[in-house]
This record gives sequence, C-alpha cells and structure tokens, in this order.
Amino acid sequence: MPAIALLGAQWGDEGKGKATDLLGEHVDFVVKFNGGNNAGHTIVVDGETYALHLLPAGVLTPGVTPVIGNGVVVDLGVLFGEIDAITARGVDCSRLVVSANAHVITPYHVLMDKVAERFLGESKIGTTGRGIGPAYADKMSRIGVRVQDLLDEKILRQKVEGALVGKNQVLVKVYNRKAVSIDEVVDELLGYVERLRPMVADTSLLLSKALDDGKVVLLEAGQATMLDVDHGTYPFVTSSSATAGGACTGSGIPPTRIDRVVAVIKAYATRVGSGPMPTELLDADGEKLRTIGGEFGVTTGRPRRCGWYDGVVARYAARVNGVTDFVLTKLDVLTGWEQIPVCTGYRIGERVVDEMPMTQTEYHHAEPVYEMLPGWDEDISGARVLEDLPKQARAYVEALEAMSGAPISVVGVGPGREQTIVLRPLI
Ligand code: GDP
Ligand code: IMO
Ligand code: MG
Repeated sequence: MPAIALLGAQWGDEGKGKATDLLGEHVDFVVKFNGGNNAGHTIVVDGETYALHLLPAGVLTPGVTPVIGNGVVVDLGVLFGEIDAITARGVDCSRLVVSANAHVITPYHVLMDKVAERFLGESKIGTTGRGIGPAYADKMSRIGVRVQDLLDEKILRQKVEGALVGKNQVLVKVYNRKAVSIDEVVDELLGYVERLRPMVADTSLLLSKALDDGKVVLLEAGQATMLDVDHGTYPFVTSSSATAGGACTGSGIPPTRIDRVVAVIKAYATRVGSGPMPTELLDADGEKLRTIGGEFGVTTGRPRRCGWYDGVVARYAARVNGVTDFVLTKLDVLTGWEQIPVCTGYRIGERVVDEMPMTQTEYHHAEPVYEMLPGWDEDISGARVLEDLPKQARAYVEALEAMSGAPISVVGVGPGREQTIVLRPLI
C-alpha cells in the first residue's frame, strides 16, 4: 500500500490537523516528519476541541499508530506534557513511537532562539521561541543531541559538552548571558529516559515493513511550503523541510512509495511572524477575516496576518510538492462579502508575473494583481455536498481550482470533522 503526504500550501495553519484527523479512520500510521512544537493544530471532534503541538494529529483516531519521525525536533518536556494532557481527556497515546534519530530540543536551544531574535531587532523572524532553529542548526552542524543519545548516559554527556563548549562562549561573550550548566542539562534529559525508552524505535524500518504489509501511512507536515527552509520566503521561514521532499527525508520513506500528495490550503491567506505576504490586508477586511476566521495562533496566541487567496502561491505549492489533491479549508469564513478578490499574479515594477519571483528583493516589492469574484451571503456551514453551496461559492471553488495547478478534492465549511464536502475521496 502507498504512503500519502499531507502538507500545507501557504504559510501554515491551513487546517492540516483537521485534514489528518479526517483521514484518520482510513490510515494505520500517521507520521510527523518535520518541525516540532512550533506547530499548533486545532482539531474539533464531536464538539470537543483539542490543541496539539508535537503529537501527530492521528493520535486522536483509535487504532492509528502515531509516529514522531527522524526529521522532527523533540522537546521532551512538551511531549510528555502533551501526552499527559490528552491522556487525561481519554485519548490513548500508548502506541506512540519516536524515532531514535529525531533530535532533541534542549533548554539551551530555547534560550538561543530567544536571544538570537532579540539581537536581530527589526530584522527578527518572529519565531515561536521554541528552540526550533537552534536545534536544527546543531543537527546540521553535527553537534545535535538525538533521542538515541539519551539511552547512553556517557554519550549523552559527551554530546551536551560538545554542543555547549562553543555555545557557552557565545552566550557569555556575545550575548552577555550566564553559561549553561552541562550537569543541569544532562540531569534534566536523563529524567525523561525511563519514560522515553519504550517508545524509541527505528521508525524508517517500522514504516517500511508496515508498507510491505499493506498498511496505509500518512506523512503529516508541520508548517508549510512558504515556511520551508529551501522553498519558502527565506530567511522568514522555519528551519525544516515542510515540503514533499521533507516527507521522505523526515521519515525514511523513499519517494517511490508516496503516491499521493495532499496539500491543505485556506480559501484566503494567513501568516504568523515576519516576512513578505503580498495579499496581506492591513485594513478592515483583514480584521474581518481575522475575527470571523478566528485567526489567532494556537502556539503563541499571536494574531495571524490575513489576506486574500494567492493563486501564485497555490501554483507554486502545487509545483514544488507535486500536489495531487488540494483540501480547500475555511470557505465558510468568506460568507458575507459582496466581491472576493483573488490574486492571479504580481506586479513587480513594470512587469506582471504569474510565478514566484526569483529573488527576495522582487518578492518584497510584489503587488498583487486581483481578479474579483462574486461573493455570497448564505451560511454554508451545513453544506455536505457541492450542490448545497450557493452558485457563487461553487464558482469560487472552481475559479480557485482553475488557477491553482491541481484539483480541489475536499472543501471545508467549518471546524468540525463532519463539516466537509468530499468531491473526490483522498484514500
Ligand atoms: P494547522 O496548523 O494547519 O493544523 O491549522 P490550525 O489548527 O493552526 O488552524 C486551522 C484552524 O481552522 C483550526 O482552528 C481549525 O479548527 C479550523 N478549521 C479547519 N478547517 C476549517 C473550515 O473548513 N472552516 C472553519 N471555519 N474552520 C476550520
Ligand atoms: P503549523 O504546523 C504558522 C512561523 C513562525 C515564524 C517562522 C519561524 O501550525 O502550521 P520557528 O519557531 O519555526 O523558528 O518560527 O515560522 N511558524 C508557523 N506559522 N504555523 C506554524 O505551524 C508555524 N510554525 C512556525 O511564526 O514566522
Ligand atoms: Mg497551526
């Protein structure tokens, strides 16, 4: 059986958690392959709201095995806190598996994230402050601490020492901070070992065998295409690979086993943190989208920047990910506009382009070119088939599909599992 990748097409918070949850009953494994507790997924099941950060959204479906892949950076305190919180609400987390090769976010990564942002001043990325960037930086610098290192105290101490030799110099001499105690870090990490040990596995092997046995594996991204460290709006991105390629490197599943790439995309656009967003609305319309759409971050509570649907971003996401299906979410939020602008291209100086510009400078100067689509007034949150939608809403979906480079297979009309229109089953 195949693996399916599910990812975000825009700047995150598209509704990946809900989409994963929707597929839950059709899949056997849900693998988080990138990012860490910078993610925030809100999932509503039978009127109960769950906010997940580190656990794959599949954890909410009985029978699914949730997997934290090698591409993830894990804050163990957060992991166990989240497990305890949802276990207390009756969710069974006992099948959770964590890759031995996943990297660990330590207290010094969180500290480095915060001081680095402070020193960037006006140029700050607006990170979530969870230590994500510094943990990935250590991974690439080959001074990271992996989950498997916790299983060998001697190795763990060596790794923490190795990471802190240089970092403590920088903390003291550049950032004017106190040095981090190696003993304190090692002791804190060792405190998690007994609970962690039974969850640790070679998850690439586990998933490979599962696929051989005919199981269905869903590879679930945190963040999104425009926040991808290679393909996003660098440097205003996260530090991991949130695109389809990351689904392979972050899980140990080869591209030849993935036969469907599902991209979740909002019917408008949002972004949290700094960086360019051509369709951003700084006026009352932006405020209206934020209020009606409930666009406040699940992780940091920050108001999300809101704007109109960007067809250039959608096409770009379709191209770099090889998207086979879009899940269009939050169509219901657009009820009540007379006309809805959608961005079909960018004006950059004298030129109009319909592809992402090559350079950051051009992107910062990109002005959206809009096409106006007729709006609708009807409440669509009860729609369950396409025919339930007013004709303007149907035309909106068709227009988006025509400009976005892949078919729209599912449309969301509310946060609930059942508030979904399936045009083409994803599995
Ligand atoms: P994720 O990070 O991609 O999983 O998305 P978030 O959970 O951060 O943000 C998406 C928000 O939209 C959540 O609060 C969802 O409950 C909500 N949501 C998802 N799909 C829909 C939809 O079709 N309509 C509405 N109104 N809300 C939705
Ligand atoms: P989900 O999975 C939206 C943004 C941060 C910041 C940038 C870098 O819920 O879609 P980081 O802490 O990762 O170094 O911050 O990326 N960011 C997100 N924005 N949704 C997310 O996750 C995000 N994860 C990180 O706001 O601009
Ligand atoms: Mg989110």
